[in-house]
Amino acid sequence: MKGIILAAGSGTRLYPVTRAVAKPLLPVYDKPMMYYPLTLLIQAGIRDIMMIISEKDLDSFRRVFGDGSKFGISITYGIQKTPRGIADALIVAKDFIAGDSVCLILGDNVIYGRGLKRDMRRAAKKAELEHKSTIFGCYVEDPRAFGVIGFDEENRPVSLTEKPAEPASNYAVIGLYFYDSRAVEIAEKLEPSSRGELEITDVNKAYLEAGDLEVTLLDKKVTWFDAGTFDSLVDTISFVRRIQYEYDCIIGCPEEAAFANGWINLDELRSLGEEMSKSGYGKYLMALALRNARNNSTINKYR
Ligand code: G1P
Repeated sequence: MKGIILAAGSGTRLYPVTRAVAKPLLPVYDKPMMYYPLTLLIQAGIRDIMMIISEKDLDSFRRVFGDGSKFGISITYGIQKTPRGIADALIVAKDFIAGDSVCLILGDNVIYGRGLKRDMRRAAKKAELEHKSTIFGCYVEDPRAFGVIGFDEENRPVSLTEKPAEPASNYAVIGLYFYDSRAVEIAEKLEPSSRGELEITDVNKAYLEAGDLEVTLLDKKVTWFDAGTFDSLVDTISFVRRIQYEYDCIIGCPEEAAFANGWINLDELRSLGEEMSKSGYGKYLMALALRNARNNSTINKYR
């Protein structure tokens, strides 16, 4: 399965801040926003990732992520010339996807909580082995700014509507989508919507109509933010700060996720931390390496 992170939007809702810095590179507390979706893809077991970006941001992204080898993964960059909508990312990434199944995640979505990793891995398997696509629904008070899922009496999904004035339910579709190999072909057949975009909701509708769409409702313990406005960005930052202090952990840490998958080793983890030893983030990586080195030596002692 391939992974795509869409990070090409012009970020006009965050002007003037995003005139010089791409939205997905803005800090969400102690790391760039993109670290969060990248970590999720790694947790889902995806190693081959394309970031869809604007040409002007290529150097900045390269400086932050390089070719991905420091995370034990492969990162390539796909250039979206004009922001033509989320579904267009599938078309830009056509050669990269090359007939494989794909997970698409939005660069400004921060999702955190128990059960998420398990749900993502299940969705990846469904796409790879059963040709089923999966979207995730999250309960929100006001879903009018999102794609919204409608259900029948037996709670089966029956409709998907983009930014409805009168939502069919309180379940918003979050920016994390798992598709089988048909996604590119479906995206290529779409017509732009009234807002001039190729809507991801239309891709999802095609799967729904074919009877091949699974909808997973996020557990109440999972928190989702679309950090696309100043207020939601501030909310996201406060959330991350609170959780990290409360649980003494770091959310959105691709190095930790890669280490947990066995994609980078202890020495690599330690030296990634040492490169940033003046920041709390770097110190966290060093402490993680130290803790694991100690655990290993305890295990070896009793072997
Ligand atoms: C997009 C999708 C929408 C989805 C949302 C999640 O909205 O079109 O269906 O609910 O992302 O963040 P947009 O960011 O384009 O307003």
